[in-house]
Amino acid sequence: MASITVLNGPNLNLLGEREPQIYGHQTLDDVEAMCRDHAASLDMEIDFRQSNHEGVLIDWVQEARRLADGLICNFGALSHTSIGLHDALLAVDVPIIEVHLSNIHSRETFRHHSYTASVSKGVIMGLGPDGYRLALTALAELVDG
Ligand code: DQA
Repeated sequence: MASITVLNGPNLNLLGEREPQIYGHQTLDDVEAMCRDHAASLDMEIDFRQSNHEGVLIDWVQEARRLADGLICNFGALSHTSIGLHDALLAVDVPIIEVHLSNIHSRETFRHHSYTASVSKGVIMGLGPDGYRLALTALAELVDG
């Protein structure tokens, strides 16, 4: 059974409370439950995590090199700043899909660049939590192929 690691970065633990007009009302627990159901329907298992700390996220990316068949990443604000996460992803051989709940290109200019998107296979943004579901569907095909 394929195993997908889903990594969430800073402030995503506040999903549902923080700026609901941008990020919606679903909590991260809701997103995890939806991902778990969808992964099961695709015959995949997921390891779903969140941290506010860059170094912890880098450790988890390195762990995923050994354990995961695919990676879904929403590193939040660290997407726009972290060369460390960029470099960690470069060492990963399995397909990586970056997800953003919001469309980062329709927001402030400092969000328009993502260091981590440039080393991901694909990016899904602006579709809210559905982006995670679509990323899992894409990975089911990529991992299979
Ligand atoms: C985000 C977009 C980032 O710019 C922001 O810092 C976040 C969430 C998103 O999912 O839309 O924390 O990654």
